[in-house]
Amino acid sequence: MEEISSAEISQRLGGEILRTAPGLVVFRPDRIDRELLELRTVEDVFLLAWGSDGLTYRAKDLDFIEKWTATKPDWAKLLALHHAVHPKPKGTPGYWLVVQQAGKHVYQRQSARQALARGLGKTIHPKWRFVEENADIEFWLTIEGTQAICGLRLSTREMRHRTWKREHRAASLRPVVAAGMAWQADLQAGMVVLDPMCGAGTLLGEARLMLQAHGRGKLQLMGGDVDLDAIESARLNLRSLGGGEFFRWDARKLPVAEHCVDRILCNLPFGITYGVGEDLGALYTRSFREMRRVLKSHGLAVVLTSEAAIARESAPAARMKPVASCRVRILGQPATMLTLRPG
Ligand SMILES: C[S@@+](CC[C@H](N)C(=O)[O-])C[C@H]1O[C@@H](n2cnc3c(N)ncnc32)[C@H](O)[C@@H]1O
Repeated sequence: MEEISSAEISQRLGGEILRTAPGLVVFRPDRIDRELLELRTVEDVFLLAWGSDGLTYRAKDLDFIEKWTATKPDWAKLLALHHAVHPKPKGTPGYWLVVQQAGKHVYQRQSARQALARGLGKTIHPKWRFVEENADIEFWLTIEGTQAICGLRLSTREMRHRTWKREHRAASLRPVVAAGMAWQADLQAGMVVLDPMCGAGTLLGEARLMLQAHGRGKLQLMGGDVDLDAIESARLNLRSLGGGEFFRWDARKLPVAEHCVDRILCNLPFGITYGVGEDLGALYTRSFREMRRVLKSHGLAVVLTSEAAIARESAPAARMKPVASCRVRILGQPATMLTLRPG
């Protein structure tokens, strides 16, 4: 998602994208304020304290972590920036450390955490309280192979666990991925947006919020699914966002008039969750045919699948043309967001 997130960051916040790596975008926005937390295609936002590509997997990394934490960042400045987003706590601040580690390092995550604590011990005020819950300030260290990044977390858990989504279903999409698809769809006010296999309604909800976040007005939302429970979940989820129209239908035969939809967003069934009783290629071709029929001539469909080759092969028979694609990882598995238009 780094490409999509970079585009959202640049458009919303201005500034400069300094670097991207899998799962990471390093950027310098024009200003630091609460607007950072309104980004919809990222799960967390941090103030960068220090970063390095110089880890060795060996025990001396722990000395580096301690030293870099104590000497590299201007912590006073970082804390002032943190207060620009979260008001300065009254009384003695409580803090918490989070360390994530991936790779074959000779040391354990706990040792890296202790090294981080030692480094911070040299800079933060001795009276600060170490707390396990509701910390005012979270210091994060993420180690992946030779790369280490240390930062102050600005986001809260609400950024990734959207409060509007109360009903969850198996194979339900992560909201940031849904927001990424909404971003790819280039939504504009007044558009009719359809999800023919809507599940819990994640894509439609995030589409509406994406447009609102960019101050660009409202959408008309329409969704359906073969599964009645899914439709009920979608209805309940969308209620707090202004609702939409939901129907029980088969995406291979939509009860929708021709050429009346501007955008289609769809998380296609794939892998082990697929159980409709015909092969995936046939399902994709028939669904794409219906997408083409209901889309306006300048419409777009953004679909997500881990079977991109099958989707690409199925598209021509439905006279749909793939015009863009973006590779993402969903629960560790590669998947593709494919943008199609009537060809
Ligand atoms: C991968 S899930 C979509 C999840 C959804 N985006 C969400 O976040 O909850 C696929 C959905 O497609 C539905 N489905 C499968 N085949 C269908 C068909 N032929 N017509 C309509 N819906 C179908 C399933 O019931 C399931 O809810």
